[in-house]
Amino acid sequence: MADGPLSEVLLRRLEAADGGLDSAELAAELRVEHQAVVGAVKSLQALGEVIEAELRSTKRWELTPEGEEIAREGSHEARVFRSVPPGGLAQSELMKLPSGQVGFSKAMSNKWIRVDKSAADGPRVFRVADSVEDEVQKRLLVVRSGQAEKLSEKERNELRKRKLLSEVTLKTYWVSKGSAFSTSVSKQDTELSPEMISSGSWRDRSFKPYNFAARGVLPDSGHLHPLMKVRTQFRQIFLEMGFSEMPTNNFIESSFWNFDALFQPQQHPARDQHDTFFLQDPAVAPQLPMDYVHRVQRTHSQGGYGSQGYKYPWKLDEARKNLLRTHTTASSARALHLLAQKKPFTPVKYFSIDRVFRNETLDSTHLAEFHQIEGVVADYGLTLGHLMGVLQEFFTKLGITQLRFKPAYNPYTEPSMEVFSYHQGLKKWVEVGNSGLFRPEMLLPMGLPEKVSVIAWGLSLERPTMIKYGINNIRELVGHKVNLQMVYDSPMCRLDMPTQAAA
Ligand code: PHE
Repeated sequence: MADGPLSEVLLRRLEAADGGLDSAELAAELRVEHQAVVGAVKSLQALGEVIEAELRSTKRWELTPEGEEIAREGSHEARVFRSVPPGGLAQSELMKLPSGQVGFSKAMSNKWIRVDKSAADGPRVFRVADSVEDEVQKRLLVVRSGQAEKLSEKERNELRKRKLLSEVTLKTYWVSKGSAFSTSVSKQDTELSPEMISSGSWRDRSFKPYNFAARGVLPDSGHLHPLMKVRTQFRQIFLEMGFSEMPTNNFIESSFWNFDALFQPQQHPARDQHDTFFLQDPAVAPQLPMDYVHRVQRTHSQGGYGSQGYKYPWKLDEARKNLLRTHTTASSARALHLLAQKKPFTPVKYFSIDRVFRNETLDSTHLAEFHQIEGVVADYGLTLGHLMGVLQEFFTKLGITQLRFKPAYNPYTEPSMEVFSYHQGLKKWVEVGNSGLFRPEMLLPMGLPEKVSVIAWGLSLERPTMIKYGINNIRELVGHKVNLQMVYDSPMCRLDMPTQAAA
């Protein structure tokens, strides 16, 4: 049956009713909160055509809390009258009673009581009548029984002026039978299970529609995700070392900037669909800097700048294909190309920390998206020694002092080095980054001066974060299944403990 007994009751009442029924009247009859009936109406509405509900607003007179009290205990003036015994009462005593102040003047003007000022011990109050009619209480009781219209407008206004009555607008539903009316409606499913899919039973089930208007629970405050805390620390280190941040505000990149500009040949396996997410819409980049593109084309297909190139027919169509950038080195290429346009050349130190995407097989340490931290230094005459020195300084600031470099290969750097650090906890050398000197085949077509070399390195943000926060499965750190409590509880990040920050 539909959500609980109230909606069942509503359906049965509706079956017997001719025409329809009012939600407020039903609530009054059943002695339940109006809101509960409204809830039942809404859950029945969600079933489709079972009922029809029309929102109406009706005005109703209601007693104020003081009005309620008077309906129960009598008006202040009646209470004053009742507290005066046949022998009278000192006015000073009467004024001390709870209703004394307000009730006295009303009782006087009603001529229910009188004051005798001749007594030696101060004014005394006496009853004038034997009994009185408490009209105010009577009228309030009439309103309370739901028959406010029996009072004259003047009477109601008087009570309103005394703040005993107020007119409220009530939103109620006029409920009537829908085209698919039935008193037995099956409960709607809220979740699609694997069993429903494999058996095909989902076809015959009715699913509860999403309520996009539902209000979520308001958080007490915002919390920074651990990745953002660690990012702040890395940013701090770069800034201390005099680096400035490159713009990385485009997840979508052309193959040109992601691969071709980096002297990565068009048949390189990393360009495969297996490693890279290509875009279907828009599938190609609208514009590329054609002068530069032609220099890149020549370098790939024929060589130049002292290089023999790859000797293959380079295709513009391939370079225009849009993808989700696979590394932030694409942004570094853009930044260096821009730098090359500024004459005369001035040395720079750049960094970036942002998201990249790879079509990876997902496991406990790999997701299809992660963050890269990248540092780039361009100056005259930089060598491998400079790269090792900068890496040493950078990692020392992270608390990682024991470093080793291992020769590696990247299409865009020569020489290339993987960076390893000794992990005290794991008692072994672990990879902490990749680095190298950008190739002349990448830099010279951009227009950088021949004697300028560029050293660069990159690492992931997730790895140090997982180590720092003791998280073993990346799914606990990133994605829709993370426990928000983990985010709330994660302490601030300080990368100053060598053993913890290592790797
Ligand atoms: N782009 C490389 C990666 O994705 C990292 C790197 C950056 C290597 C700069 C060398 C120089 O792993």
